[in-house]
Amino acid sequence: MIKTLIVTGGAGFIGSNFVRYMLGVSDTHIVCVDKLTYAGSMSSLEGITGDKRFTFVRADICDRAAMREVFGRYKPEAVINFAAESHVDRSITDPGIFVTTNIIGVQTLMDCCLETGAHFHQISTDEVYGDLPADSEQAFDEQSPLRPSGPYSASKASADLLALAYRRTYGLSVTITRSSNNYGCFQHTEKFIPHMIMCALEGRNMPVYGDGSNVRDWLHVSDHCRALKMILDGGREEVYNIAGHNEISNLRLAETICDILGKPRELITFVSDRKGHDIRYSMKTDKLTSDTGWRPVRDFKEGLEETVRWYAAGKAAGGCLWK
Ligand SMILES: NC(=O)c1ccc[n+]([C@@H]2O[C@H](COP(=O)([O-])OP(=O)(O)OC[C@H]3O[C@@H](n4cnc5c(N)ncnc54)[C@H](O)[C@@H]3O)[C@@H](O)[C@H]2O)c1
Repeated sequence: MIKTLIVTGGAGFIGSNFVRYMLGVSDTHIVCVDKLTYAGSMSSLEGITGDKRFTFVRADICDRAAMREVFGRYKPEAVINFAAESHVDRSITDPGIFVTTNIIGVQTLMDCCLETGAHFHQISTDEVYGDLPADSEQAFDEQSPLRPSGPYSASKASADLLALAYRRTYGLSVTITRSSNNYGCFQHTEKFIPHMIMCALEGRNMPVYGDGSNVRDWLHVSDHCRALKMILDGGREEVYNIAGHNEISNLRLAETICDILGKPRELITFVSDRKGHDIRYSMKTDKLTSDTGWRPVRDFKEGLEETVRWYAAGKAAGGCLWK
């Protein structure tokens, strides 16, 4: 078991779910390092901050002196890096911060790992593989070439390559996971599912890019967190895909959200397509299953209904984490 784990980006969507999951299933001391950008919120760690096994440090992963101080003070055996600029639309209008956080931040963390002997786990994305045609049966495996389409995915692919280079050149202990789109509680309302839910709840137009035919593969965040712990506990030093195997078009997903909420599908409006919009993502996860036994267990319809209820309850109680 890992005694002390640094979780960067732990005040964001997946990071906060991971912190909550780890505290529920292990005695690991979690040191959460987060800059609290617009995307991070202490409310996502509500009920956790008083736990003796939890420490919060507000810091930027690009700040070398601050990272050295955290590593020196807490002496972690491992670091799991969720900290990132994560919104594709923002990367199209302002790519610079994506290069800084998603690449320089990763390098800074890995240098600290090299100095202290800590293991480094990088949270990556299916978007590094680029996209697939809508009508194909193809799916990416871990050997597929990296062909990112936009600044966000290019910054994530760069970090993956840098991490693999650090392993080969310096012998850094590294694991990388590439997951498909996550859904669940505590996700920022700028992201597709929460955005659709909030618009539907407020009776506003639900903007869907292009003709809505783009396909995403949805993974419940709890399935993701469980896979990560299995890899930290018993995975090899490898790259692993993690996917929910719930492929659905954006239009069909928006319609399903309307149906769950009993709202008219006429709220859905088509808007000009995102630049470089990826058509379809799909990944094979056989490697992870054969190495750890992991499989996704959350039913998509049930998980989506639970997520919708969570946002609806948050709104009824005076607002979700993010307005
Ligand atoms: N959400 C998804 O569907 C998805 C899918 C695949 C991979 N990922 C990856 O998972 C990771 C987490 O994604 P998320 O959706 O939880 O993101 P998020 O945007 O919800 O959270 C990111 C967190 O990182 C923090 N952060 C940003 N810059 C920082 C910096 N310089 N120093 C310290 N903290 C900083 C933010 O304050 C925030 O708390 C990201 O690396 C993302 O690329 C996300």
